[in-house]
Amino acid sequence: MRDQWAKDLFVRGEKITDHDTVYGINKLAFGSETEPKLIAALRKSKSFVRGLSLVAVKEEKALGHALLTRAFIVNRGRRFKCLVLGPMAVLPEYQKQGIGKKLMEEGFERAKELGFTAIAVLGHETYYPKFGFIPASQKNIKTSFKVPDENFMIVELVPNALKGISGMVEYPREFLRISTAEPKPPAVAEQTEVKEQSPEQ
Ligand SMILES: CC(C)(COP(=O)(O)OP(=O)(O)OC[C@H]1O[C@@H](n2cnc3c(N)ncnc32)[C@H](O)[C@@H]1OP(=O)(O)O)[C@@H](O)C(=O)NCCC(=O)NCCS
Repeated sequence: MRDQWAKDLFVRGEKITDHDTVYGINKLAFGSETEPKLIAALRKSKSFVRGLSLVAVKEEKALGHALLTRAFIVNRGRRFKCLVLGPMAVLPEYQKQGIGKKLMEEGFERAKELGFTAIAVLGHETYYPKFGFIPASQKNIKTSFKVPDENFMIVELVPNALKGISGMVEYPREFLRISTAEPKPPAVAEQTEVKEQSPEQ
């Protein structure tokens, strides 16, 4: 039944004309303007990756949105490129019908095509493991946000992508400026001073 419903649902890259709708979807899903404001700021940032702001559409109506932005796993001056997922939102009346899953599947595919091999997320510990995310602590990967261990997760898009990689995920600055998650010291400002190196792949 759900599969039938999801048949005409497709995920595509966001267009400029979607911006207001995406704002509304996030505002309604989160019950706050923090996330839509974060998305607007990320769109203007160097962390934004064209093609990785996704909308789920059915019968020409956008019902969900997911954003993947560029980030790094930083360890002693070495930077390994990855993506961070979020915000991700589905209109309340359309939740639990497979829209989030479609957004995630398309996001994974596009990320791989663009050469990314891992995605980190701060989120529900019961939701993201459905898509292969594991607690990042299992890979010795940490976040500067003050969140319980199980809420900071990571997934390898390519087997063993994170072999030999550990460190702190350096989120785009906009997350620190706008997000509701509380950073714990040392804050990201310190990590951003790390000199950029080619990612180890
Ligand atoms: C979280 C969210 C994006 C998921 O989207 P969705 O379209 O409802 O998710 P799906 O229907 O694709 O769900 C896929 C599976 O996860 C389950 N699931 C959905 N929301 C869940 C949640 N919050 N916690 C745990 N499991 C959840 C579904 O039951 C489904 O399970 P199944 O495949 O075993 O049947 C959506 O519920 C939402 O917008 N929530 C409010 C905003 C939010 O919290 N965003 C995420 C921030 S971390």
